[in-house]
Amino acid sequence: MATNSSPCSSSSTNFLPSSYIKNEKTVLFSRFVVTVPRKSTGVTQIHSRAQGRKYSHIKSSNGHPLNAVSLKDGLDGKGIPVSEAEKEESTLSITVVGASGDLAKKKIFPALFALFYEDWLPENFTVFGYARTKLNDEELRNMISGTLTCRVNQRENCEDKMDQFLKRCFYHAGQYDSEGDFSNLDSKLKVKEAGKVSNRLFYLSIPPNIFVDVVRSVGLRASSLNGWTRVIVEKPFGRDSESSGELTRCLKQYLTEDQIFRIDHYLGKELVENLSVLRFSNLVFEPLWSRDYIRSVQLIFSEDFGTEGRGGYFDNYGIIRDIMQNHLLQILALFAMETPVSLDAEDVRNEKVKVLRSMKPLKLGDVIVGQYKGHSKSGRSYPAYTDDPTVPKGSLTPTFAAAALFINNARWDGVPFLMKAGKALHTRRAEVRVQFRHVPGNLYKRNFGTDLDMATNELVLRVQPDEAIYLKINNKVPGLGMRLDRSNLNLLYSARYPREIPDAYERLLLDAMAGERRLFIRSDELDAAWALFTPMLKELEEKKIVPELYPHGSRGPVGAHYLAAKYNVRWGDLGGDDS
Ligand code: BG6
Repeated sequence: MATNSSPCSSSSTNFLPSSYIKNEKTVLFSRFVVTVPRKSTGVTQIHSRAQGRKYSHIKSSNGHPLNAVSLKDGLDGKGIPVSEAEKEESTLSITVVGASGDLAKKKIFPALFALFYEDWLPENFTVFGYARTKLNDEELRNMISGTLTCRVNQRENCEDKMDQFLKRCFYHAGQYDSEGDFSNLDSKLKVKEAGKVSNRLFYLSIPPNIFVDVVRSVGLRASSLNGWTRVIVEKPFGRDSESSGELTRCLKQYLTEDQIFRIDHYLGKELVENLSVLRFSNLVFEPLWSRDYIRSVQLIFSEDFGTEGRGGYFDNYGIIRDIMQNHLLQILALFAMETPVSLDAEDVRNEKVKVLRSMKPLKLGDVIVGQYKGHSKSGRSYPAYTDDPTVPKGSLTPTFAAAALFINNARWDGVPFLMKAGKALHTRRAEVRVQFRHVPGNLYKRNFGTDLDMATNELVLRVQPDEAIYLKINNKVPGLGMRLDRSNLNLLYSARYPREIPDAYERLLLDAMAGERRLFIRSDELDAAWALFTPMLKELEEKKIVPELYPHGSRGPVGAHYLAAKYNVRWGDLGGDDS
């Protein structure tokens, strides 16, 4: 942990170019000028306020007993017994910092309500919204009540449950850089906690340039004195290795690594969570999981809408930082890792980080970038990326990218991991496609004509929408002749599991409460992910590479096909029968 370098504040971790500060809501934050007094000890971590034992009785999403996985949040407790009496004596306070923002309204409060509805939250809990806007408790309740929904299959008692939930929600108005305001929050939290053991979770739903200010105030003024304190942060974690490293260093002046829960919401998605189950608990897959049988792995993300309303943020990051360096790379790491020693967070994250560190540095020659242009279809016109008023004219920021990545280890040597991510494409989907090799000396070769690719097996994990796992196999068409076709062995979730699938944020919030870190990004993982992308991103920006334009609503730039062809493969999602 670095403690002797420069002090940390929003100004030292403001890795956003000034245009970002001017754009969007962050204009309001740009006036913060924070001077941080150096501590004589150099380090003031949140855990220094916390003494005593930790009480937890929430189950994590992987069903682990939590006292086995949550001893590390800066508490020095050993072997924590969780008796019924203790359960009743502990409280959980969840503070959503940035409560009036979009993410909080659309995702965080609804996820908390869903957990409450399904009885995942502990008996004694309160939710606090914290933001600068002057609101009272009732106004917060009105604001969030519009976004709470019950699952389609659980309409029973919905209204009652909502009322009960809203009664547990409170509001505190304060500045993000004001220790005094967080001190006042602390007093309110104490009233609700009524002398019980208090566990506190802070969700920072705010721009990253003020993470450090908030974390400092939380650490000094609002952390728990007798329970745990954890802070959830969400990307962007910097723009490159340097800015990300600086952010980590600054956060660690006030938090231990175990208190920082870095969210990548893709890790909370059902199908991503299922990836390891599929692979490690089915004998039929694991033996095939290597260069011997797999020809390419494709990680595909597409959205059928542009950056509408988010251009100011997006223009400073681009699709590579927004989607590839985190969401797709995380899936890749889970897909390619060796069998972990156990399902414990550190064992899993150790294996993921090994994959990331074994990857070949990404070369500019293995990346193609695109940007959507305006397009008219059926009398409707769709804007270009640069038509967005918050995007600078002539911006070269990619809204589409495709890349070929390689893992330098015995299992994956030479197998292209192709990534493709784009906005304003023809469809919305996220999937992993595993293309297997051709069958050597295939007896039925002549039945496939000249295109053997059409006959290779492909395993598809459709993360969204319409979650599914399907395997493309060759099959004989029933009848007297010998005609083959490709069919799907199809596990469509909606048919097999009629229950609504929980949102990723529900799983992740639950795990953070439980102290289960498996689905959160450790700082060394983050460093490895940036190390892979930073040199290429720098070169891309220094050389001012002009993105290939593609029409809004199309399948993306043709360059992506050439990239796949360079490695002798085709994109599985563009095969025609791409269902
Ligand atoms: C976010 C990106 O991380 O993920 C957005 O910043 C993107 O640009 C979003 O739209 C996609 O998430 P989901 O869960 O809707 O696929």
